[in-house]
Amino acid sequence: MSIYLDNAATSFPKPEAVCTAVDQALRYSGANPGRGGHRMALDAGRIVFETREALAELFAIRDAARIAFTANATEAINLGLFGMLKPGDRVVTTTMEHNAVTRPLRALQDRGIILVKVPADKRGFVEPSAIFEACRQKTRMVVLSHCSNVTGTLQAIEEIGPRCRRDGILFMVDAAQSAGLFSIDVEAMGIDLLAVPGHKGLMGPQGTGFLYLREGLNLTPLLYGGTGGNSQSDLPPDQMPERFESGTLNTPGLAGLKAGVEFIRSEGQSRIRAHETDLMARLIEGLRAVPAVQLYGPQEPRLHGGALSFNLRDQDPSEVGFLLDREYGIFSRVGLHCAPDAHRSIGTFPRGTVRVSPGYFNTTEDIDQLLRAISALASHPPA
Ligand code: ALA
Repeated sequence: MSIYLDNAATSFPKPEAVCTAVDQALRYSGANPGRGGHRMALDAGRIVFETREALAELFAIRDAARIAFTANATEAINLGLFGMLKPGDRVVTTTMEHNAVTRPLRALQDRGIILVKVPADKRGFVEPSAIFEACRQKTRMVVLSHCSNVTGTLQAIEEIGPRCRRDGILFMVDAAQSAGLFSIDVEAMGIDLLAVPGHKGLMGPQGTGFLYLREGLNLTPLLYGGTGGNSQSDLPPDQMPERFESGTLNTPGLAGLKAGVEFIRSEGQSRIRAHETDLMARLIEGLRAVPAVQLYGPQEPRLHGGALSFNLRDQDPSEVGFLLDREYGIFSRVGLHCAPDAHRSIGTFPRGTVRVSPGYFNTTEDIDQLLRAISALASHPPA
């Protein structure tokens, strides 16, 4: 028996209804959505439409057409950043970002944007006041992750977004680690662009995600190609979502994503969050009791998303991850987690950490088994 504690990378297992929905879409609705008038193409189109509607409801998005499907959050972030920013634009971000944000911004620096990184404290938290201070010079956009994939630290987006809206600064949120787990209301939080993966907290299949773009904003597309309509034009249509959805969509994946969202709705987001918070509390308490463990990030479960990073004194995190897998059947993720800036912020660069990330399907027994394994590794370090 193995124990999966790598839900920050992708959630596993998926609800049974997600697997069934993918299977059914492949078997019975396998035509191309929006590309034909026959019944099966209409069925496929309905799946895409209903998934968009379900997501809009979950994130309090008034017009579902403002959701453009992408392959993942990374593509959504790239679409938002490359599509929106022009040479000379000043962008404020943080030192807790994943490479999905830092790398496009770095590439855009070469094209003339001005980048300001606001430092996080040792827990990975970025004070909203430090962001506002950084925005005293004319700023086009603030972009940050809601929840760190390294430390699980939650940022105060509900405070930052409305202030950006008031000051006429675009606010973009990378919700890779928070969507599905935390309630996100794009209106109340002043979010102009929201990048979301389908395969993590939303419990859908890999290869799904979306970018929400507030009404009244426009972007340059990343991809150009067929959109199923306006075929006479040599440019993509102006209207969303088609403008950003060139090429055939991942209909089976979106069918699964819809089932994931329905699962969250029927279980209740607060119940899911409460279960994961309980697991996190048990994990933090148990790891704190092992003297050789160095824990990173916030220690209060309520300030935590699903990821927790730690190290064992004098042990290489890669070795610990390897032994957890080989000796105990426990799956974690070690190293820099594609977020070197975040590791610099918490003082764990370049070695990184062991990261465990429980999900809704984990049990307290899973956590206890991990704690027993860590205690054993701490008292008998590999030679
Ligand atoms: N961004 C994902 C992670 O943190 C893949 O593991």
